[in-house]
Amino acid sequence: MQVTKGMVGHGFYDSNSAPQWEATAHVLPWLEEIAAALDLPGSGAITLADFGCSEGRNSVAVMQRLVAALRARSDRPIHTIHCDLPTNDFSGLLHRLNPDGGRAFEADHVYSSAVGGTMFRQLLPPGSVQIAMTFNAIGFLSRRPLDHLPGYIFPNGPSDLNPVGHVSAAEQAAFAQQADADLRSFANARAAELAPGGKLLIEVFGAGECLRTCDGIYDVLNDAVLDALNAGMLTQEAYARYYQPVYMRTLEEVLFPFGQAGSELAGLFALDRSELYEIPVSFVEAFNQNGDVAAYAKAYTDFFRAFTETSLRLNLADNADLEALVRYVYTRAEQRVRETPDRYPFNYIAMGVMLTRRG
Ligand SMILES: C[S@@+](CC[C@H](N)C(=O)[O-])C[C@H]1O[C@@H](n2cnc3c(N)ncnc32)[C@H](O)[C@@H]1O
Repeated sequence: MQVTKGMVGHGFYDSNSAPQWEATAHVLPWLEEIAAALDLPGSGAITLADFGCSEGRNSVAVMQRLVAALRARSDRPIHTIHCDLPTNDFSGLLHRLNPDGGRAFEADHVYSSAVGGTMFRQLLPPGSVQIAMTFNAIGFLSRRPLDHLPGYIFPNGPSDLNPVGHVSAAEQAAFAQQADADLRSFANARAAELAPGGKLLIEVFGAGECLRTCDGIYDVLNDAVLDALNAGMLTQEAYARYYQPVYMRTLEEVLFPFGQAGSELAGLFALDRSELYEIPVSFVEAFNQNGDVAAYAKAYTDFFRAFTETSLRLNLADNADLEALVRYVYTRAEQRVRETPDRYPFNYIAMGVMLTRRG
């Protein structure tokens, strides 16, 4: 089974990904520092590549900041490359890169490409990239390590606040192993593409000591899917088969393969800096200020619908009335948040890791 086809397209992801932008914005100063100081030998294009660009709003905004920082010090051509799965909806990205009557970048000699392919393989020519980046994407797994996850819909298990369901330690270990293998594949592919001295920035949602980005979101989605099960809209077997193919890593899990003495990745990359951080979420802050629970429930549900719906559809594709089921699940989820917002608190925990390609 395919794990995902990408996010919900037609502008829906772009309209509902402000938290991902906030998580990205936290590490933009790191990138700007690098753009100002990076050693840039040669005279060809300076190449910047983003892996997991989705519909492009956040990806183009990152590139605009980086292009401005690079253009301040160099007249060389700049190439921005935006990569995602071949099934991703690239149409918004292509429009953003070619806006009607204008241009995407306030600089001359900027050229852009979209590339379809999995980020867990090499996608670009050897030694051709100066800065490689990924934002809120590497948590998506390359494959489903288990056929079934019968007790819950997410590998990291339910939150402590709302312990409906269960994921065993052995089940969780299978996902942790897959995530580790994926991270190694990703880093090896980027190592092949980066020029010596090039930079790799990994930013991703994940798990802190107490809070995890999955809490709240998947508790309410799990409750809504269980509502569908109880209403006879899907079978117990279908519930057992369905899970979101995403894993929330800790910062230690992201750093581990780069810090193992003598390992391949420790030989390929030097660690510059890393940070675990929490970002304020705009719809949570608005709710805390204005108490408008209906607006909160809608913004919250649209936010996670944008990155969960495709996998839900793929998992439950053999359902007799998939459209009705999908409609029901997200309607129920929104209703549940509206009725009991305290049951599903949401916190965005993210981490950034900056690495230099040795050589
Ligand atoms: C939550 S979105 C993040 C989009 C954007 N980077 C942002 O921060 O708003 C995750 C993206 O990762 C992409 N993705 C998931 N698995 C992928 C893979 N194996 N290769 C490339 N992209 C992948 C999805 O298609 C999706 O566009």
